[in-house]
Amino acid sequence: MKHIFKKGNEELPVLLLLHGTGGTEEDLLPLAELIAPEHSILSVRGNVSENGMPRYFKRLSEGVFDEEDLIERTHELNTFIDDSAKQYDFDRNNVIAIGYSNGANIAASLLFHYQNALRAAILHHPMVPLRNHSLPDLSKKSIFIGAGENDPICPADETKELEQLLNNAGAEVTVHWEKSGHQLTQSEALKAAEWFKRYS
Ligand code: MLT
Repeated sequence: MKHIFKKGNEELPVLLLLHGTGGTEEDLLPLAELIAPEHSILSVRGNVSENGMPRYFKRLSEGVFDEEDLIERTHELNTFIDDSAKQYDFDRNNVIAIGYSNGANIAASLLFHYQNALRAAILHHPMVPLRNHSLPDLSKKSIFIGAGENDPICPADETKELEQLLNNAGAEVTVHWEKSGHQLTQSEALKAAEWFKRYS
């Protein structure tokens, strides 16, 4: 997969950066710089193109996911992280995702499918990636969710549903609400940075 790897302090977790629809591997570099400037970064571009816009998996329409493709792409991304850990010589068990929108959705899907794909995650405006799916044991995983009270793409009830599903799997979930829509605001980014400092 097309990506950027930037080496940081090798003692610290590697940040896996996952952009929103139409983004690239460059998009979340400033966010990572704000949240955790000393960490190594693996920033990956989605392999799917929707009319030229990179994404991590196909969708049938706005908010309706192609579940077969989502599952396949989740495994593909997990294998890519495995391979990158060997290539760049980092600890595969020490990876923290930071994702926005479509990137947060594939990060949530990694959590839904694998107990050890991620050590923790910062999810900006995620949705429930799959329903009627049994989650692995996610105890000891810390997850920050940034949500908008008026997010038309990810309604508040869906955020609460995701929080509940992750909580039920044992994860420690912190939800931060902004009085905004789907955009990732500066104040949400600062809250994520505060959370990360407390968590790490
Ligand atoms: C998705 O398709 O993953 C969500 O609708 C968010 C987005 O618009 O990318």
